[in-house]
Amino acid sequence: MNKSEIIKDDKNFIANTYARFDIVVKEGHGSKIIDSEGKEYIDCATGIGVNIFGINDEEWKKAVIEQINKVQHVCNLYYAQPQTELAKLLCEKTGAKKVFFGNSGAEANECAIKTARKYSNDKYGDGRYEIITLKDSFHGRTIATLTATGQDAFHRHFAPFLEGFRYAEPSMEGILSCYTDKTCAVMVEVIQGESGVNVLESKFLKNLETFCKERDILLICDEVQCGNGRTGHLYAYEAFGIHPDIVTTAKGLGGGLPIGACMLFEKCERTLGFGDHGTTFGGNPVACAGGASIIRRIDKNLLLEVQGKGAYFMENISKISKVKGVSGMGLMIGIDTDKPAREVAEQCLKKGLIVLTAHKKVRLLPPLNITKNEIDEALAILNEVISQ
Ligand SMILES: Cc1ncc(COP(=O)(O)O)c(C=O)c1O
Repeated sequence: MNKSEIIKDDKNFIANTYARFDIVVKEGHGSKIIDSEGKEYIDCATGIGVNIFGINDEEWKKAVIEQINKVQHVCNLYYAQPQTELAKLLCEKTGAKKVFFGNSGAEANECAIKTARKYSNDKYGDGRYEIITLKDSFHGRTIATLTATGQDAFHRHFAPFLEGFRYAEPSMEGILSCYTDKTCAVMVEVIQGESGVNVLESKFLKNLETFCKERDILLICDEVQCGNGRTGHLYAYEAFGIHPDIVTTAKGLGGGLPIGACMLFEKCERTLGFGDHGTTFGGNPVACAGGASIIRRIDKNLLLEVQGKGAYFMENISKISKVKGVSGMGLMIGIDTDKPAREVAEQCLKKGLIVLTAHKKVRLLPPLNITKNEIDEALAILNEVISQ
């Protein structure tokens, strides 16, 4: 099938929910993507932060294929090594006590929401169920996580939403204005990815941690996008010196296969019991084997490399004329320009660079192993497109 035939069938048969860019992805290697017509691109999107070590990565493929050759699915009624191995790695590296695996970021957050409500219900009885999230946050597309998402644009069409969510400005005044005696948790992305790579203030996060601890309110960090080495820290909350009670992640954890993880720290390690939560596919052994290979590789040296590459990328982006601002951490970067972000993304694509948008900003989520040469090539294209 050629490009126009694929696009025609897509328009005819795929639900019309995505504003796709004009490219049919065929294959790739590392930070390079090749389209259906043989054109090569530098990938600064990684399938929205998923292909964390690029495309066709040998180590990840080996882990995945080895597991596929053994068994492709084990239901959660039985034990399987890849799932326990990944959970153990996550716990050892973060201090979490237990992990629940789902298949996506939204599912990881669903688990966090249920855990927070049950923790409070077990301890304080009915009625303490409210969760404070932040304005401009994004937590997923299921009804609960859509409700948790603090953006009006997502709250059209699908009412009624779930009861018990309040949206705060990212400040202690904002939190206080939403706090009631029904509050059981606060959920934050320490770096808001979808709304423009907004890094929350360290002081605010520290104060929020204290505020939550004093009131036995669970602090949930949604690290679906900013986790798994992306920021130069295994999980981005570490950069702020805070200690959440629940951390959710997905995207890069699977390296390309669907997985979500809800990490439960000391306070709520025993909250979920038999039958409280479950999923057929969650913790799939192939996805977990791939995930374990990824988490094993994210060591101190790699994290320092990511920090260095991120600093180089951001410093040089800020020198491009017509760039109004650069935000982010490590290889999670937002670019503010006068040009509409979608236009920048389309022009970059024409010149062989794949980037994302996030609200009004251009967003870069390149593979953690992108090379310096590839960063320079990406910078040259960004310069041409933005400064024009
Ligand atoms: C911070 C955050 N949370 C949750 C989600 C939802 O993840 P998924 O699309 O895997 O359900 C996303 C997806 O972009 C995200 O960025």
